[in-house]
Amino acid sequence: MSDKADFTKNVLPYLAQLEEDEAGPDAAEISRRYGISQERIVMLSRNENPYGASPRVRAALTDVSLHRYPDSRPFLKALSGYTSYPEECLVAGAGMDEIITTICRIFLGAGDKVLIPVPTYNFYGLAVELCGAVPHYQPRLAGFSVDRKIPEGIKMAFLCSPNNPTGNALSEENVRAVVESTESIVFLDEAYAEFAGKSLLKLVREYDNLVVGRTLSKAFGLAGLRLGYAVAPPWIARQYRRVAPLFGISSLSLAAGVAALQDLGWMRECVGKIVAERERMRQSLASAHPSEGNFLYVHTEEKSEVVVERLLCQGIVVRDCSSFPGSGEHCLRVTVGRSEDNDRFMEEFKNANTKLSS
Ligand SMILES: Cc1ncc(COP(=O)(O)O)c(C=O)c1O
Repeated sequence: MSDKADFTKNVLPYLAQLEEDEAGPDAAEISRRYGISQERIVMLSRNENPYGASPRVRAALTDVSLHRYPDSRPFLKALSGYTSYPEECLVAGAGMDEIITTICRIFLGAGDKVLIPVPTYNFYGLAVELCGAVPHYQPRLAGFSVDRKIPEGIKMAFLCSPNNPTGNALSEENVRAVVESTESIVFLDEAYAEFAGKSLLKLVREYDNLVVGRTLSKAFGLAGLRLGYAVAPPWIARQYRRVAPLFGISSLSLAAGVAALQDLGWMRECVGKIVAERERMRQSLASAHPSEGNFLYVHTEEKSEVVVERLLCQGIVVRDCSSFPGSGEHCLRVTVGRSEDNDRFMEEFKNANTKLSS
């Protein structure tokens, strides 16, 4: 074999344009870069639950047999209790991101068109492109609602409620209109439903083209264990089981999921505290949009990248939304954290958001 062989030509051509995803600087890096002690750093960029998982989760992890392959059935049974859907309608994945990639793999091939109302969760576009399909980004309407009709020629559509990063939940009427307007598959992402205190899960019983994705990363505080699920019509759940790896979720994650679903009181307590904090923050942030998630979408005077960098210098990490297609250059997303962390953000935001006269 020649030393000069170009092995990169073997990469699929439609993947060549993809950017590498970056996790952003961690606390150690921020501490080093800005000379701030790690304890002073406040992470409000990833919509995590600041109170963590139920204490029962940790206890459950000690009992897991590590030498056996995982069995997802106890988790699916617990989910059936939580969602009131039979197990034939439930599928689990390593985070909702894996659910999204698997659903895309079932329905999308090269050149298929996928409708994505923006701004929204960036991962949909990536999952679509990984299949060689083409995202069609459609601007949202007033109040960040979505167009009631899916145009001809669309194979799949992504809805997100409450939407990341704008925080609004879609009305039942809006979602029904979209689903009824099309023969394509509609994926409704309800990662933040627990914070909204409402869900459109019931619609899966009515529509054979609707899949609802959920996660234990947010309200249940299990982001590090990567555990998500979807509620789907039986025919789609069957397709899913054919495509997804049988042992794709670790035994630790599954045991954690069962324990978390057995302690709904903990989850509801966390959600109650987060919702109260969210409303307190919104009252004092004049440029924040109403939100039904565990985060706020905040308009900035200066370009958001400038404001976010100024906050970072103070050890406060929030999300610059300029990388979300359709969000523009003047919005950031802040996760609702613990009260003392939110206070620090609100104090520093006042300074960081002041436009400097040139
Ligand atoms: C709207 C939305 N969907 C899905 C996810 C991914 O969830 P998971 O951690 O279960 O992969 C996120 C993560 O931030 C999200 O914001």
